[in-house]
Amino acid sequence: MTTIVAIANEKGGVAKTTSTLSIGAALVESGQEILLVDLDPQANLTLALGIQPAQIRRSVADLLLGNTSVLSVSRETSVPGLDLIPASGEMLMVERFLYVRQNYEHLLRKALAKADMYSMVLLDCPPSLGALTINALTASNLLIIPTQCEFFSAHSLREMLDLIRNIRQRSNPSLRYRVMITMLGKTRVHRTLQEQIRSAFGNAVFATAIENDTKLRECPVVGKPITEYAPESRAAQQYRALAQELEEYVHQAIAQPA
Ligand SMILES: Nc1ncnc2c1ncn2[C@@H]1O[C@H](COP(=O)(O)OP(=O)(O)OP(=O)(O)O)[C@@H](O)[C@H]1O
Ligand SMILES: [Mg+2]
Repeated sequence: MTTIVAIANEKGGVAKTTSTLSIGAALVESGQEILLVDLDPQANLTLALGIQPAQIRRSVADLLLGNTSVLSVSRETSVPGLDLIPASGEMLMVERFLYVRQNYEHLLRKALAKADMYSMVLLDCPPSLGALTINALTASNLLIIPTQCEFFSAHSLREMLDLIRNIRQRSNPSLRYRVMITMLGKTRVHRTLQEQIRSAFGNAVFATAIENDTKLRECPVVGKPITEYAPESRAAQQYRALAQELEEYVHQAIAQPA
């Protein structure tokens, strides 16, 4: 069974793209085949894998519009086992088009039904709650919400919970979610806010938190994930631990529902 996981938060710059790539790269280390999908018109995930959006012929836009299949739009990356469906500048236009299509929420879910050669599909969402994010959440078994321990994070977490409620009612009753703490620093504010998030969300928060690590900022420059760029770094080890937690969660909660 293929598990589809959306990585989304309407708040920008919370490490959605970094986490999508790092978790995917950590999962392939155990021999799995993983598909990453860049759903963001900014195409940061595509760029982070060293691919120029201006030079690609087919993108996730074509997949959403039904012009192509997963097999013909996905491509191998420099990381063995890790494939990508890239984004392009057309995405902004596509997002506007989607709303006028009937049952537009379900377009991605239908397209990804043919992604069953992968054990997991990770969807990197844009920092907005538009048609692309709604498509991602409708297609997904699980939503991961990366969050920083900052003052404004509580507000965006509440917005995300509203969205989950909405999606469960409208298009995906079985959507689950998990919160992951990213870019954690050593200040007292970070410690306090981490405790607040953990006590508010309980075991819906991954035990592993990703700390600040400048090596993660260097990865896009070399077009490699952290597990390859700095395999022994703290960030690489933390993302491996997080990927393992994710696998355990999928195994006990999604792959074999009670
Ligand atoms: N743990 C970390 N430590 C230090 N820097 C980080 C960490 N995680 C991510 N970054 C950096 O923070 C910036 C934002 O990360 P990223 O692009 O992954 O966020 P995003 O949520 O995808 O942003 P957007 O909302 O624009 O899509 C990037 O420069 C990234 O390299
Ligand atoms: Mg991003």
